[in-house]
Amino acid sequence: METVLSGIRPTGNLHLGNYFGAVKNFLRMQNENKSFFFIADYHSLTTHPTPQDLHKNVKNVLAEYLAVGLDPEIATIYIQSDVPEIPELYLLLNMNAYIGELERTTSFKDKVRSQPDNVNAGLLTYPVLMAADILIHNADKVPVGKDQEQNLEMARKFARRFNQMYTEYFKIPQAYNFGEELVKIPGLDGTGKMGKSEGNGIFLIDEPKVLRQKVMRAVTDAGPTEKDSPIAEPIQNLFDIMKVVSTPDTLQFFIDKYKSCEIRYGDLKKQLAEDILSFTNPIRERIIDITNNEQYLSKVVKMGAEKARESASKTLKDVRSIIGFKSF
Ligand code: TRP
Repeated sequence: METVLSGIRPTGNLHLGNYFGAVKNFLRMQNENKSFFFIADYHSLTTHPTPQDLHKNVKNVLAEYLAVGLDPEIATIYIQSDVPEIPELYLLLNMNAYIGELERTTSFKDKVRSQPDNVNAGLLTYPVLMAADILIHNADKVPVGKDQEQNLEMARKFARRFNQMYTEYFKIPQAYNFGEELVKIPGLDGTGKMGKSEGNGIFLIDEPKVLRQKVMRAVTDAGPTEKDSPIAEPIQNLFDIMKVVSTPDTLQFFIDKYKSCEIRYGDLKKQLAEDILSFTNPIRERIIDITNNEQYLSKVVKMGAEKARESASKTLKDVRSIIGFKSF
């Protein structure tokens, strides 16, 4: 069985786009492989969160992923900072990571531009920490979005370099590919994918009142004027969301209304909001229950750390000995 691993940044809440994207993939990873999921809280220090925010964000992300179905009995779910073997491997890998190659990564250059007052060494070595995350479990596969491809390539490079300098030890991690295409969930602002930005995203944790308001304010147009005219993008977007939360009959009903120029966007949005709510409400309740269940969270985190450290300490022991650390 292959070992797959994914890191989750503790920022923001899950939205519908995440649910039908990353989360779906995670559930498949969990069911088909030996899987590790961790919350990358060390990585988030590169942007200097306050101590309160750091903890709150970690807890929030953990509760949301548990609520959508990550199962601590099946997968190893842990918090990066609970596994001291990771920063130790990071230190060791840093000795063979070169400033020049780190400075050339696009994510570093982007950060230099976006946070010029905080260009810290952690940002520069972000790919090394990420490589340590992956290599510490000798993972075969890592699911990566477009923005993380270069970081995975760096991890592969560091693994190869280690293998060449010392001995063939690390597997070269591959991108995890999910056979079928994922449905793309559009945002509410007329164009493009659903994201975190204000007014575009529907979050699983959104209160019914907020969610209804967001949907009612979704961008539309003046409406079709000719029968069977092609569906305009903002409206197609609402239909696309409907496709994943409503019944096929409901969707067809509104498409027919559009085609015959009888559609009332207010009705469409009301129906859409209710159908989203029937979908998100149970998840929201689970998120709240889990968030309030300190005992459960503490048990999950402890169990995750134990399982992760068991695997990590084995790797680190090997690596230390390969590099030449010997006990007296
Ligand atoms: N850099 C990833 C992101 O921004 C998070 C991450 C940290 C990660 N370590 C990882 C992802 C290891 C995969 C494997 O989304």
